[in-house]
Amino acid sequence: MPFRPVSLILHVSVSVGWFGAVLAYVAVAVVASTGGTPEAVRGAWTAMDVIGWWVLVPLSVATLVTGIAGTLGTGWGLGTHVWVRAKLALTVVATAVLVAHMPSVSVQARGIPPATAGHHGGPWSEILHATGGLAVLGAATAISFMKPWGKTGTG
Ligand code: HEM
Repeated sequence: MPFRPVSLILHVSVSVGWFGAVLAYVAVAVVASTGGTPEAVRGAWTAMDVIGWWVLVPLSVATLVTGIAGTLGTGWGLGTHVWVRAKLALTVVATAVLVAHMPSVSVQARGIPPATAGHHGGPWSEILHATGGLAVLGAATAISFMKPWGKTGTG
Protein backbone atom coordinates (compact mmCIF):
# COMPACT_ATOMS: atom_id res chain seq x y z
CA MET A 1 0.00 0.00 0.00
CA PRO A 2 1.34 3.48 -0.77
CA PHE A 3 2.91 5.54 2.02
CA ARG A 4 0.45 8.47 2.05
CA PRO A 5 -2.86 6.67 2.71
CA VAL A 6 -1.18 4.42 5.28
CA SER A 7 0.33 7.34 7.19
CA LEU A 8 -2.94 9.31 6.98
CA ILE A 9 -5.02 6.36 8.28
CA LEU A 10 -2.55 5.86 11.13
CA HIS A 11 -2.48 9.59 11.87
CA VAL A 12 -6.26 10.03 12.01
CA SER A 13 -6.64 6.83 14.08
CA VAL A 14 -4.12 7.80 16.75
CA SER A 15 -4.95 11.52 16.92
CA VAL A 16 -8.74 11.17 17.08
CA GLY A 17 -8.22 8.11 19.31
CA TRP A 18 -6.26 10.38 21.66
CA PHE A 19 -9.30 12.67 21.86
CA GLY A 20 -11.55 9.70 22.70
CA ALA A 21 -9.15 8.44 25.36
CA VAL A 22 -9.14 11.87 27.04
CA LEU A 23 -12.95 11.67 27.18
CA ALA A 24 -12.63 8.39 29.10
CA TYR A 25 -10.02 10.03 31.35
CA VAL A 26 -12.43 12.92 32.13
CA ALA A 27 -15.15 10.44 33.13
CA VAL A 28 -12.79 8.68 35.54
CA ALA A 29 -11.43 12.02 36.82
CA VAL A 30 -14.99 13.04 37.76
CA VAL A 31 -15.19 9.96 40.02
CA ALA A 32 -11.74 10.73 41.49
CA SER A 33 -12.63 14.36 42.16
CA THR A 34 -16.23 14.22 43.29
CA GLY A 35 -15.81 11.37 45.71
CA GLY A 36 -17.81 8.26 46.32
CA THR A 37 -16.49 5.40 48.39
CA PRO A 38 -12.75 5.44 49.21
CA GLU A 39 -12.39 2.31 47.06
CA ALA A 40 -14.00 4.05 44.09
CA VAL A 41 -11.75 7.11 44.46
CA ARG A 42 -8.61 4.97 44.81
CA GLY A 43 -9.67 2.86 41.82
CA ALA A 44 -10.31 5.99 39.77
CA TRP A 45 -6.78 7.32 40.46
CA THR A 46 -5.31 3.94 39.48
CA ALA A 47 -7.34 3.99 36.24
CA MET A 48 -6.14 7.54 35.47
CA ASP A 49 -2.54 6.49 36.08
CA VAL A 50 -2.91 3.53 33.68
CA ILE A 51 -4.88 5.42 31.00
CA GLY A 52 -2.42 8.33 31.20
CA TRP A 53 0.85 6.40 30.87
CA TRP A 54 -0.31 3.50 28.69
CA VAL A 55 -2.80 5.21 26.39
CA LEU A 56 -2.59 9.03 26.43
CA VAL A 57 1.20 9.45 26.37
CA PRO A 58 1.76 6.84 23.59
CA LEU A 59 -1.10 8.32 21.51
CA SER A 60 0.30 11.84 21.91
CA VAL A 61 3.74 10.74 20.71
CA ALA A 62 2.19 8.67 17.88
CA THR A 63 0.17 11.74 16.81
CA LEU A 64 3.37 13.79 16.59
CA VAL A 65 5.27 11.07 14.70
CA THR A 66 2.49 10.25 12.20
CA GLY A 67 1.61 13.95 11.78
CA ILE A 68 5.21 14.82 10.91
CA ALA A 69 5.41 11.73 8.65
CA GLY A 70 2.28 13.02 6.86
CA THR A 71 4.11 16.21 5.93
CA LEU A 72 6.87 14.27 4.14
CA GLY A 73 6.54 14.29 0.39
CA THR A 74 2.85 15.27 0.47
CA GLY A 75 3.12 18.96 -0.40
CA TRP A 76 1.85 20.00 3.03
CA GLY A 77 5.36 20.60 4.35
CA LEU A 78 6.20 21.22 7.99
CA GLY A 79 6.87 24.93 7.58
CA THR A 80 4.79 25.88 4.55
CA HIS A 81 1.18 25.90 5.79
CA VAL A 82 -0.08 27.80 8.82
CA TRP A 83 -2.58 25.07 9.77
CA VAL A 84 0.20 22.44 9.95
CA ARG A 85 2.37 24.72 12.12
CA ALA A 86 -0.60 25.52 14.37
CA LYS A 87 -1.37 21.82 14.87
CA LEU A 88 2.29 21.07 15.54
CA ALA A 89 2.39 23.80 18.22
CA LEU A 90 -0.87 22.63 19.84
CA THR A 91 0.28 19.01 19.85
CA VAL A 92 3.73 19.78 21.28
CA VAL A 93 2.19 21.90 24.07
CA ALA A 94 -0.50 19.29 24.86
CA THR A 95 2.10 16.49 24.94
CA ALA A 96 4.48 18.51 27.16
CA VAL A 97 1.70 19.40 29.63
CA LEU A 98 0.55 15.77 29.71
CA VAL A 99 4.03 14.34 30.34
CA ALA A 100 4.77 16.99 32.99
CA HIS A 101 1.46 16.33 34.74
CA MET A 102 1.38 12.52 34.80
CA PRO A 103 3.93 11.99 37.63
CA SER A 104 1.59 13.78 40.07
CA VAL A 105 -1.22 11.41 39.00
CA SER A 106 1.08 8.43 39.70
CA VAL A 107 1.79 9.86 43.15
CA GLN A 108 -1.94 10.09 43.92
CA ALA A 109 -2.55 6.60 42.50
CA ARG A 110 0.05 5.17 44.91
CA GLY A 111 -1.78 6.79 47.80
CA ILE A 112 1.11 9.04 48.85
CA PRO A 113 -0.29 12.08 50.71
CA PRO A 114 -0.26 15.02 48.25
CA ALA A 115 1.52 17.38 50.69
CA THR A 116 4.42 14.92 51.09
CA ALA A 117 4.71 14.47 47.36
CA GLY A 118 4.54 18.16 46.53
CA HIS A 119 1.31 17.80 44.53
CA HIS A 120 -0.73 20.94 44.94
CA GLY A 121 -3.58 20.31 42.51
CA GLY A 122 -7.03 20.84 44.01
CA PRO A 123 -9.76 18.26 43.64
CA TRP A 124 -10.95 19.84 40.38
CA SER A 125 -7.46 20.18 38.90
CA GLU A 126 -7.69 16.84 37.07
CA ILE A 127 -11.00 17.67 35.43
CA LEU A 128 -9.65 21.12 34.51
CA HIS A 129 -6.45 19.68 32.96
CA ALA A 130 -8.32 17.02 31.03
CA THR A 131 -11.08 19.28 29.70
CA GLY A 132 -8.39 21.80 28.69
CA GLY A 133 -6.73 18.96 26.78
CA LEU A 134 -10.05 18.07 25.13
CA ALA A 135 -10.47 21.69 23.98
CA VAL A 136 -6.96 21.69 22.44
CA LEU A 137 -7.52 18.35 20.70
CA GLY A 138 -10.94 19.48 19.47
CA ALA A 139 -9.35 22.62 18.03
CA ALA A 140 -6.65 20.51 16.31
CA THR A 141 -9.35 18.27 14.79
CA ALA A 142 -11.31 21.28 13.50
CA ILE A 143 -8.12 22.82 12.06
CA SER A 144 -7.34 19.50 10.33
CA PHE A 145 -10.58 19.46 8.39
CA MET A 146 -10.80 23.20 7.65
CA LYS A 147 -7.08 23.72 6.87
CA PRO A 148 -7.43 27.50 7.39
CA TRP A 149 -5.05 30.50 7.15
CA GLY A 150 -3.22 29.66 3.90
CA LYS A 151 0.54 29.49 3.53
CA THR A 152 3.28 30.78 5.82
CA GLY A 153 5.72 33.48 4.72
CA THR A 154 8.16 30.78 3.61
CA GLY A 155 5.50 28.59 2.05
C1 HEM B 1 -4.17 16.36 18.29
C2 HEM B 1 -3.52 16.64 17.24
C3 HEM B 1 -3.97 16.29 15.85
C4 HEM B 1 -5.20 15.90 15.37
C5 HEM B 1 -6.50 15.68 16.18
C6 HEM B 1 -5.07 15.70 13.96
C7 HEM B 1 -6.08 15.25 13.12
C8 HEM B 1 -5.99 15.12 11.75
C9 HEM B 1 -7.06 14.70 10.87
C10 HEM B 1 -8.47 14.33 11.32
C11 HEM B 1 -6.57 14.75 9.59
C12 HEM B 1 -7.32 14.38 8.31
C13 HEM B 1 -7.82 15.65 7.64
C14 HEM B 1 -8.28 15.43 6.22
O1 HEM B 1 -7.87 14.46 5.56
O2 HEM B 1 -9.06 16.28 5.73
C15 HEM B 1 -5.19 15.19 9.67
C16 HEM B 1 -4.37 15.36 8.58
C17 HEM B 1 -3.09 15.84 8.64
N1 HEM B 1 -2.36 16.14 9.79
FE1 HEM B 1 -3.04 16.03 11.70
N2 HEM B 1 -3.77 15.98 13.60
C18 HEM B 1 -3.07 16.34 14.72
C19 HEM B 1 -1.74 16.69 14.81
C20 HEM B 1 -0.89 16.84 13.71
C21 HEM B 1 0.50 17.19 13.78
C22 HEM B 1 1.30 17.42 15.05
C23 HEM B 1 0.95 17.28 12.50
C24 HEM B 1 2.34 17.58 11.98
C25 HEM B 1 3.02 18.59 12.27
C26 HEM B 1 -0.15 16.98 11.62
C27 HEM B 1 -0.10 16.98 10.25
C28 HEM B 1 -1.12 16.59 9.40
C29 HEM B 1 -1.04 16.58 7.94
C30 HEM B 1 0.17 17.01 7.10
C31 HEM B 1 -2.26 16.09 7.47
C32 HEM B 1 -2.65 15.88 6.00
C33 HEM B 1 -2.07 14.57 5.53
C34 HEM B 1 -2.49 14.22 4.13
O3 HEM B 1 -3.49 14.75 3.64
O4 HEM B 1 -1.80 13.37 3.56
N3 HEM B 1 -1.25 16.70 12.40
N4 HEM B 1 -4.85 15.41 10.99
